[in-house]
Amino acid sequence: MKLIIANFKMQLTLHEELTLCTDLKKECVDSKNKIIVCPSFPALLAARTIFEKTEISLGAQTCSEYNKGPYTGQVSALSLAQAGCSYVLAGHSEQRSQSVTSQQVAQQALQITQAGLIPVVCIGESKQHDTFTNLEKELLEQLLPVHEALGKTPFYLAYEPVWAIGTQKTPSIKELTETLAWLKFTTPTAGLLYGGSVTPETSSALQTIALLNGFLVGGASTNLQKFKKILSLIH
Ligand code: PGA
Repeated sequence: MKLIIANFKMQLTLHEELTLCTDLKKECVDSKNKIIVCPSFPALLAARTIFEKTEISLGAQTCSEYNKGPYTGQVSALSLAQAGCSYVLAGHSEQRSQSVTSQQVAQQALQITQAGLIPVVCIGESKQHDTFTNLEKELLEQLLPVHEALGKTPFYLAYEPVWAIGTQKTPSIKELTETLAWLKFTTPTAGLLYGGSVTPETSSALQTIALLNGFLVGGASTNLQKFKKILSLIH
């Protein structure tokens, strides 16, 4: 059984998100994998009702690095807990590209654990590196603040090379295995996920990597048939 996170991003309207959640409930509820759906903030309360009494869990796509205060437009981890979330993503590359720093991501992860939720911290290199040393260096810059903030608290680490997101490109199984082994060594408290062009076409090969505890699915999670296919290929 793997953790499969559906990250709807801002790909759908609220109505489309709730229709998809209803379809997921009908069609994916007996999957052997653990499904976590991350819709937009306005969809959370209604999605919670849809997924009530199912094994499907709810997640949010980000949260504030603060617990409370004058932060217009932000949402606290505690409010997300009260809205029914169990998981929260922190540091997705689409957040980092809007100048959210690794320090802020680490503070978000801390807020998430303090609210009793499970952080899914996303890291990934912005471009393909020539050497493993350069890759390590970029990943470590993102990881060290998280190590400092979370200490030994367990969390999920989603390795998502930015160049693989939404591009139909993935690292080779050999490259991915090497990077994941290094991540497991540096961060033994984390469960490892992979994200970046997880589709029906790439899932069979990706799911052979023993170090992986699951996947973060973006684009393909907003298409019921593709998502169902991915669920059926991963075990
Ligand atoms: P993708 O996105 O599956 O569309 O590549 C993954 C992600 O951004 O988490």
